[in-house]
Amino acid sequence: MSTDPEVERHFHRMEHSGPHPGNRPRLRSHDVTPPAPSGAQPGVPAPAPPRPLLSIRGVDKRYRTAKGATVQALEGIDLDIAEGEIVAVIGPSGCGKSTLLRMVAGLDDDYTGAVEWRRPPRPGKDIGFVFQEPALLPWRSVAGNVGLGLEGRKDLEGAEQRVAELLDLVGLGDFAKSYPKELSGGMRQRTAIVRALAYDPQILLMDEPFGALDAITRDRLHDDILRIWERTRKTIVFVTHSVEEAAYLADRVVVMSARPGRIRAVHRVPLHRDRTPATRELPEFGRFAGMLRGELA
Ligand SMILES: Nc1ncnc2c1ncn2[C@@H]1O[C@H](COP(=O)(O)OP(=O)(O)OP(=O)(O)O)[C@@H](O)[C@H]1O
Ligand SMILES: [Mg+2]
Repeated sequence: MSTDPEVERHFHRMEHSGPHPGNRPRLRSHDVTPPAPSGAQPGVPAPAPPRPLLSIRGVDKRYRTAKGATVQALEGIDLDIAEGEIVAVIGPSGCGKSTLLRMVAGLDDDYTGAVEWRRPPRPGKDIGFVFQEPALLPWRSVAGNVGLGLEGRKDLEGAEQRVAELLDLVGLGDFAKSYPKELSGGMRQRTAIVRALAYDPQILLMDEPFGALDAITRDRLHDDILRIWERTRKTIVFVTHSVEEAAYLADRVVVMSARPGRIRAVHRVPLHRDRTPATRELPEFGRFAGMLRGELA
């Protein structure tokens, strides 16, 4: 997305125009209360939590269709995302998950409410976006695709090294010179994920990144994401249709209701942060995924 002039223009507007004029503060929070830090003294006020990386405040989104009708896609969305957190967004088809992600990414600024950042995202640098279908450039090699956002850097050697490290991280070191058509679907998606990470964005946004893959490839990519997170501690927000994927990867799961999309609940995943394939066998995992499935029914 770093090369899309529309995106660059959007960020330029965002940086210079401040919060959206439709911004109205709302006293509403769907967030679960975080547990008190262990060792907290009674009567001694806990230190204020750090400001979230990203705050979505009272966001409403309406689309106007080609026939002139209005579709309310999102209503009253309030959500804070902390730095280093992995957040999954689930909900029925058409409830506005992609719309929400696109707004956070700055790909759509036609909404009311506010998307506020602790540090304003720099154009084309601070937001990595992964689409459901990996949008790779067919005429560029794997390394050429991953290095797309690093072009124009003076430190060419450093950029090449970063690309090589990222490809190794997802097991694609031997495919640096291959072309997208020579890769499997899972390899293409891994290329798209590390491309989004190449310029070290503040946040990685992924819209159903594993939706088109078979179950074994999906599981492999889940573990790639966990490894990437362990290395980079990147803030990650992703949309999925799979309650198991949400439970396996996320710290918190945002459940949205059918159109107009509202936040129905935000659940903290009751599992240790270190997840391994054995996590899927734990009774807590099954119970939590079952609870999410029940909420979607
Ligand atoms: N460009 C558009 N013009 C008009 N309506 C739109 C447009 N894009 C999305 N919508 C409508 O907004 C609503 C939310 O769409 P969105 O794509 O965000 O849903 P979603 O939750 O991502 O669905 P899915 O799970 O199927 O991907 C839908 O009712 C959709 O028809
Ligand atoms: Mg969608």
